[in-house]
Amino acid sequence: MSIDHAAPPQTAHATRHTAPAAGVGLVLRPARADEAPLLSELALRSKGWWGHSASFLRACEAELTLSPEQAAKAVLVEVDGVVAGFHLLAPSSVGSDVGELDMLFVDPPFIGSGIGRILFEDARRSAAGRGWTRVQIEADPQARPFYERLGAVQVGERLSRSVPGRSLPLFELTLRGGGSSRPIGRATYWR
Ligand SMILES: CC(C)(COP(=O)(O)OP(=O)(O)OC[C@H]1O[C@@H](n2cnc3c(N)ncnc32)[C@H](O)[C@@H]1OP(=O)(O)O)[C@@H](O)C(=O)NCCC(=O)NCCS
Repeated sequence: MSIDHAAPPQTAHATRHTAPAAGVGLVLRPARADEAPLLSELALRSKGWWGHSASFLRACEAELTLSPEQAAKAVLVEVDGVVAGFHLLAPSSVGSDVGELDMLFVDPPFIGSGIGRILFEDARRSAAGRGWTRVQIEADPQARPFYERLGAVQVGERLSRSVPGRSLPLFELTLRGGGSSRPIGRATYWR
């Protein structure tokens, strides 16, 4: 797999990284409780990809730290045995048919290589399998093009829980009977 590690955030998708090559071992699997520290560090590194200041990242650290219970509910993707990203779904307080994509983070060396789409499509399928009709996503503003590309629609705004006064776009994904028809790709599934 060829990935341009040096590409600055603004140009990462303008330059378009190469997708994982055929034969590269992509595995989606449930994360374990003892992987909470690894996932928390990945989330912080991933957030840092947008070029946020050190003080901003410190403010976000608590929110990006997974408990062992959260980690045990996350799903991660490994590329040749290396954890490249993860997602975490949770029920929403909005209603019993609504879920929340609490976390979706790709480790910087893998950003722009299709891992985000793989994770998002897995979250979509999993959410549909739980009987949810909608998934809400409190997004980083810089992730807006990604969510729009994958079919989520902005339905409002929410105030950040980490940074006072910061407004975040609230996206919603409507689930129609089992998720997208687009294939996820070459990932191997544990289920
Ligand atoms: C947002 C994020 C998860 C996307 O993951 P990714 O692996 O880079 O995304 P992919 O390579 O799978 O891209 C999927 C599609 O979205 C598009 N896309 C993704 N990010 C984009 C961007 N910033 N601008 C324009 N298009 C973008 C890609 O072009 C691609 O389209 P295609 O498959 O039709 O060609 C990743 O950038 C990330 O972890 N960022 C830092 C943390 C973060 O903000 N997470 C979200 C918290 S709300």
